[in-house]
Amino acid sequence: MLDLSSHDVLLVGGGAAGLRAAIAVAEINPNLSVAVVSKVYPMRSHTVSAEGGAAGVARQDDSLDEHAYDTISGGDWLPDQDAVEGFVKEAPQELMRLEHWGCPWNREPDGRVAVRPFGGMKKERTWFAADKTGFHLLHTLFQTSLKYNAVARYDEFYATRLLADDGQVQGVVSIELASGKVQAITAKAVILCTGGCGRVFPFTTNAAIKTGDGMALAYRAGAPLKDMEFVQYHPTGLPFTGILITEAARAEGGYMLNKDGYRYLQDYNLGKPHPQPVLRSMELGPRDRLSQAFVKEYEKGRTIEGPYGAVVHLDLRHLGEKKINAKLPFVRELCLKYENLDPVKELIPVRPVVHYMMGGVHTDPDGATPLKGLYAAGEAACVSINGANRLGSNSLTECLVFGARAGRAAAQFASVQRAPERHLLAQAVDEEARLQDRFLQKSGGRERLSNIRDEMQQTMEQSAGIYRSRESLEQAAEKLSELQERFQDAGLDDRSHAFNTELIAALELSCMLDVAESIIHSALHRTESRGAHQRTDFPVRDDEKFLAHSLVTRCPDGTPEVTYAPVTITRWPPAERVYGK
Ligand code: FUM
Repeated sequence: MLDLSSHDVLLVGGGAAGLRAAIAVAEINPNLSVAVVSKVYPMRSHTVSAEGGAAGVARQDDSLDEHAYDTISGGDWLPDQDAVEGFVKEAPQELMRLEHWGCPWNREPDGRVAVRPFGGMKKERTWFAADKTGFHLLHTLFQTSLKYNAVARYDEFYATRLLADDGQVQGVVSIELASGKVQAITAKAVILCTGGCGRVFPFTTNAAIKTGDGMALAYRAGAPLKDMEFVQYHPTGLPFTGILITEAARAEGGYMLNKDGYRYLQDYNLGKPHPQPVLRSMELGPRDRLSQAFVKEYEKGRTIEGPYGAVVHLDLRHLGEKKINAKLPFVRELCLKYENLDPVKELIPVRPVVHYMMGGVHTDPDGATPLKGLYAAGEAACVSINGANRLGSNSLTECLVFGARAGRAAAQFASVQRAPERHLLAQAVDEEARLQDRFLQKSGGRERLSNIRDEMQQTMEQSAGIYRSRESLEQAAEKLSELQERFQDAGLDDRSHAFNTELIAALELSCMLDVAESIIHSALHRTESRGAHQRTDFPVRDDEKFLAHSLVTRCPDGTPEVTYAPVTITRWPPAERVYGK
């Protein structure tokens, strides 16, 4: 029998954005009941693996306008400038709030919070806790959320669909992983904070849980996904595992070397070599440009062939053991454990790796989607402040600023809504029947989930990687629609109820297929190159036609439709992106 529980505001996702939103709801109105539904225990959310830091103006020689300009130019003029202005203003307040809640930011010898440089930023403004910033930030949010009795947690619950009454979102249907029980959780407002979808690609820094669940839930319910063609490759992932070697390693002075031991980034309009890191130059250039430079080096035959494909080297040896231990202890630990090498003495093999989605559920600057009652924040959302290329360290802060904003907006909305009607439960009953018929009772099934997943990931890497073309994208669109069909014929071997991880893998795969299609179709329509979206057949930015956000919606037959919406320009008219000067 279907279980039912009711709350005022429901968060899906227990990472930085979700917990920050939950705290904001509890702070703004202690009488509201808040539910955090998360497919993993909150401390296992992907935020925990963030390394390098969180951006926010902290010094007298810096300014909000400079942070805004770096973010807008870094995003190739696609960010909405009103959203960016709000973001940079609230960023230092949020980071200081975290300090008061106990986040152990690194300090300067004089006691001030320490800041480090980061890629594409003109000033040092990245707050950090060694190179385990996400771990400390998530702990801080989690322990703070525990103070509020109004926050109820549904740990290890997987949301399978949104409940909506007359177009207004009013809860989710979820599966309790431990028991397999299907449960309806209703609420007056729902906030999606489920993170990104890096697992659509084969080689990613993203945890296995980042399967685009929230994006797919919103898309299926009728909300548009925005700017999905912009997929960020981080230039320094470990080969094979894809584990992130933080940009902080370059901020602390690391060099990128090709097979000749040459600092090749000097050949890509990113400035000239200097023994010390120079802001917005060389190794501290933006991620899109550094990842593109890797491909060019490969084409020139100047990369190194390793057991898992081409790599370049990250050199930290000149930093010395003391500095590496103090500022980059996790980098050293990761290299020792996963590559069996010591960066104090050896070069680190690295290559670009899918790291972050600039796109996501279309929201306004308060996290509201076009669907009444539905909000989104964090990587699952696209506000947009990141445009065509996010700057490193803006995303943890984005989770805080827009998690808090979405929480406040949802709380205000929920405060004046009536409780959902009981007839909503009919949708939950239907969903329970669908899960039974489609997955748990269906016999046979000729297709294996793992084959479909592998083919999807290979398709995405080959067709929608750092460089794309009409031909590659059309092939991918065709392949994905074939995979969607084959997915209908995939059956499960495991029909049990307790911790049926195969069932969850099937549900995640169906989300990834929908999200992958939205990426491919958005990329196919954007016939220009901008930021992380580089078309070999349209190599130039075209502001006349494409200074616009793509919006992809799902047609009734399940196919994606792409339209465009204007970008908000306030004070910074489009210009050339210049680095290294
Ligand atoms: O390299 C890093 O530490 C990543 C940071 C980010 O994506 O913001």
